Amino acid sequence: MYNLLKGKKGIIFGALNDQSIAWKVAERAVEEGAQIVLTNTAVAIRMGTLDELAEKTKAAAVIPADATSVADLENLFEEAQKALGGKIDFVLHSCAMSVNMRKKRTYDDLDYSYLDKTLDISAISFHKMIQVAKKMDAISEGGSIVALTYVASHRTFFGYNDMADAKALLESITRSFGYIYGREKAVRINCVSQSPTMTTAGGGIKGFDGMLDFADRMSPLGNASADDCADYCITLFSDLTKKVTMQTLFHDGGFSNMGMSLRGMEQYSKSFVAENTDENGHIIYG
Ligand SMILES: NC(=O)c1ccc[n+]([C@@H]2O[C@H](COP(=O)([O-])OP(=O)(O)OC[C@H]3O[C@@H](n4cnc5c(N)ncnc54)[C@H](O)[C@@H]3O)[C@@H](O)[C@H]2O)c1
Repeated sequence: MYNLLKGKKGIIFGALNDQSIAWKVAERAVEEGAQIVLTNTAVAIRMGTLDELAEKTKAAAVIPADATSVADLENLFEEAQKALGGKIDFVLHSCAMSVNMRKKRTYDDLDYSYLDKTLDISAISFHKMIQVAKKMDAISEGGSIVALTYVASHRTFFGYNDMADAKALLESITRSFGYIYGREKAVRINCVSQSPTMTTAGGGIKGFDGMLDFADRMSPLGNASADDCADYCITLFSDLTKKVTMQTLFHDGGFSNMGMSLRGMEQYSKSFVAENTDENGHIIYG
């Protein structure tokens, strides 16, 4: 504990259960001295275990909000300021969902009404949240806003589907709004690009176990866990990163700068050995 967030007030979106990245961020923020408000959709609050987290973190309030609804967001920022007794110093956006993925619609067979939903929940909600907060002047000068993203916004990963487009938009909003909010109120806006992490949303991605193992073998530091991600988010909420804004910050054990690792190649080569040996395990040369 470093008391990095002593006296700060934050809103945490997207904690569903104790696997959620947002859950870990909420716990760490409070350990570092912050007071928080928790939010999620009414359905997620009913189905998940957010009350348990609220009790554990002595949250000032749990306020239901659909992150795609401007009216809900206005109510959230108003009620959160009341519950916390002042302006908000940090916000975590940790919301994503693809109906196309859920309904197993592939990228070359997208349903466009589902695509609208994916973009709204996973990216445009970030714009809505920031725009509402700015219009209400709900974020304190020098505050910090963080969203979670994935490297598939830059490079193609099979099975990540329309969520790759949503993450690209999310990162673009981070830059565009980061400029405006930074210039006017010194509010920082950044994205953390996290390793694959076993959560409810993560588990919904096609071939997720393989993706997790592949990323781990490729990364010199191995995959970053949800707890590691929480640590990184805390630094971004803290006063130690006051000049960091408009960035997509890779928090992935080095994965995003790798081409091929020895651990990756060893695993990949196993299939060749199997293909080129007879039933006694002897290599077939020709
Ligand atoms: N798990 C991974 O591998 C991974 C990797 C990189 C980035 N991320 C990102 O991290 C974030 C958090 O996901 P997670 O992995 O902790 O999974 P999670 O399933 O625990 O969290 C996703 C959350 O989004 C919320 N949500 C969905 N629709 C919403 C709406 N309309 N309004 C408000 N909230 C809504 C859900 O209720 C849930 O709490 C997401 O943005 C995800 O894309 C995850």
